Amino acid sequence: MNSRDSEHMIAQLREKEGYTMTEEFREADLILINTCSVRERPVHKLFSELGGFNKHKKSGAKIGVCGCTASHLGEEIIKRAPYVNFVLGARNVSKISEVLHKDKAVEIDINYDESEFAFDDFRTSPYKAFINISIGCDKACTFCIVPKTRGDEISIPADLIIQEAKKAVDGGAKEIFLLGQNVNNYGRRFSGDNEKVGFSELLRRLSKIEELKRIRFTSPHPFHMDDEFIEEFARNPKICKSMHMPLQSGSSRILKEMKRGYTKEWFINRVEKLRAECPTVSISTDIIVAFPGESDEDFADTVDVMKKVRFDQIFSFKYSPRPETEAEHLTEVDSEVASDRLSYLQTLNNEIHDEINAALLGNTYSVYFEELIRDGYVSGRSDNNIVIKVKGSEELLGTFQDVKVTTIGRTILTGEILA
Ligand code: 5AD
Ligand code: SF4
Repeated sequence: MNSRDSEHMIAQLREKEGYTMTEEFREADLILINTCSVRERPVHKLFSELGGFNKHKKSGAKIGVCGCTASHLGEEIIKRAPYVNFVLGARNVSKISEVLHKDKAVEIDINYDESEFAFDDFRTSPYKAFINISIGCDKACTFCIVPKTRGDEISIPADLIIQEAKKAVDGGAKEIFLLGQNVNNYGRRFSGDNEKVGFSELLRRLSKIEELKRIRFTSPHPFHMDDEFIEEFARNPKICKSMHMPLQSGSSRILKEMKRGYTKEWFINRVEKLRAECPTVSISTDIIVAFPGESDEDFADTVDVMKKVRFDQIFSFKYSPRPETEAEHLTEVDSEVASDRLSYLQTLNNEIHDEINAALLGNTYSVYFEELIRDGYVSGRSDNNIVIKVKGSEELLGTFQDVKVTTIGRTILTGEILA
């Protein structure tokens, strides 16, 4: 979501303010730092990075801090780093032109409604288009700062999303990536008097765009994974068969403390339904270890879900207390125990991942190539999100090729294009 917010700001700055991009920050007239505040570490990093930018920037260059940390620290950023020219919250991106011309502006209103704002066009990649389908989040997971930085959830009208998808496809993109904090809660609330369209219906409408070949989305919430959603996912050939299912914890007790709205059994049941409907699906997840009060038994439940589900990819984090969240003041798990649990989980994940990957040798996938990488390779993804590289150059970008996997690596496989 931050990447798309950056694209939106760049679009406004190019079209309304005449800026162009530079690779070298020492030459920049404006340095924007788009921040995350989901965990504590990036917040610390912000201030050390800011110092570096201020020291080496061109004389007279402006510095703006944007994103979730801007929303949650606001004025304090300017107090701690007085050379910062403006602070722009994650839900105020459309005001970039405004703040640019007001020194020391702080725009961080989390009730500001940008759901129908017509941003100018800018995309980092012509091959794959990120498209926001909602702003904010209505959940109240007790560990999570996002509702405090991005505000209430509002869906973007379906016709605007479809228009944006068509524009991206006309510009050459064959894949779109729908973004929202809870994409499968899409359609519960619009700001104006818009047609009530749910997520499955939105997917059906988008898949009617002829030249659009692939639809991805993130993140769905396990709580909203009803049968209709899973069946539409399985049935619709344009929806890529890769599902992100943020587990957070495998313990029903901890899930309740986290206010996630589902149990261990529901999660496993949804995985089983998904795999029954769609046997080729790859499943990724987010896991937090050492949420306050997590016992050895609770952690064993997370390990149990890992072993039962065998995720294709996990993103795992040590719990980090965040301001203004319900869990903020709860007693933390001993930090050594937390580190041990995280490394146990990551080792287990590597073992599972290596086994899953080893079985892919010799398989053939239709790969959509999107990126030039080092040493004369081009990389792309299969429908079910396996990253594969082949020897090649620009002319492969934006094309689909049948690729046979010839070498297995942990993060990327190597293949050969079939004639
Ligand atoms: N501590 C650790 N991880 C967190 N996440 C969100 N909040 C926290 C926190 N306080 C993780 C969740 C979420 C991912 C984007 O970040 O797993 O799904
Ligand atoms: Fe945070 Fe929960 Fe909303 Fe996800 S669903 S953004 S974890 S509050």
